[in-house]
Amino acid sequence: MNQVKEGKAIIEVEPKEIVDKKMPIFYNPHMKLNRDLTIYVLKHLAKDDWKIGLPLAGSGVRGIRILKEVSKKLEVTVNDKRRGFIDDVLKLCKLNDVEMNSFELDANLFLLQNKFDYVDVDPFGSPNPFLDLAVRSVRNKGILAITATDTSSLSGTYPKACIRKYWAKPKKDEKMHETGIRILIRKTQLIGAQHSIALTPMYSISQIHYVKVFFRVEKSKLKADEILKQHEIIDEAGPLWTGKLYDFELAKKIALESDERILQLIAVEAKDEKKIHDVHKLSKKYKVKQIPKFEKILKLTKGTRTHFSEKCIRTNKTEKELIKIIQQLS
Ligand SMILES: C[S@@+](CC[C@H](N)C(=O)[O-])C[C@H]1O[C@@H](n2cnc3c(N)ncnc32)[C@H](O)[C@@H]1O
Repeated sequence: MNQVKEGKAIIEVEPKEIVDKKMPIFYNPHMKLNRDLTIYVLKHLAKDDWKIGLPLAGSGVRGIRILKEVSKKLEVTVNDKRRGFIDDVLKLCKLNDVEMNSFELDANLFLLQNKFDYVDVDPFGSPNPFLDLAVRSVRNKGILAITATDTSSLSGTYPKACIRKYWAKPKKDEKMHETGIRILIRKTQLIGAQHSIALTPMYSISQIHYVKVFFRVEKSKLKADEILKQHEIIDEAGPLWTGKLYDFELAKKIALESDERILQLIAVEAKDEKKIHDVHKLSKKYKVKQIPKFEKILKLTKGTRTHFSEKCIRTNKTEKELIKIIQQLS
């Protein structure tokens, strides 16, 4: 076994070159930022008496990090159906000098039997099998975090799969990652709405292998109805969530926690969430020979970059105004 340090947690994992589902204890170092975000969100939104539920806990590292990096006062409960999980968690807790509750149940049974203030659904692939019980297991005003790693369905490589699994049409273009995350948000919100639960996105991120959204959970018929009014088809994609992806104050605080470029970028684009435009596609459409430097375009359009795509910008200018500026600069 190798000892690995992530944040303030120490875990023991078998040395393996390739991360796959068959690992005896599932630990994916490439998901560190996903776990970092759990820490940052809880640091800023959790109260000391919160109960934290991790239904698909893998190695348990996220739970250890929550206790060591957010607060030891939180009650953390981890679950994974893998045989031997409870014994491994006991060892892990000893190694890190913390205490967690642990279960070896199917995630849905675990979510049915417990109530939490924060639930983090981090599955292999789609979160679909767990959405219904996850939504219902979070207390009023708590936070639900949903990760999906089936990004190819959401972003349009497999449109039929997206329609079947997420009830919306994706679109494969430069804006596909934003479209995909908005499709996932709507699906999750629909599951919430059927239980009169409103799910408002507080923070969203799209990475190569996953998308993750943190929702504020509110038990309110009125608010659930308001959420549904913000589902639309945009540019032939969707229906999807057309509301905000971020709570700007939270995005600013998260950016101060780390110097990761993507988190800085998100804080900037979260400010007023201007519309995304694909500069490359637009330039091609209008036969612009040389695309001007992005910095120049951003200055004249009062725009920002977006973490969803290197080829897109966010601006309040219309497509016509934007192409005029691009043409002027080229
Ligand atoms: C992607 S890993 C979780 C990674 C972990 N959340 C982390 O932060 O490192 C998914 C985990 O879910 C577990 N799992 C898969 N299906 C499950 C189910 N139906 N109920 C409970 N655990 C399940 C697997 O054993 C695996 O450890």
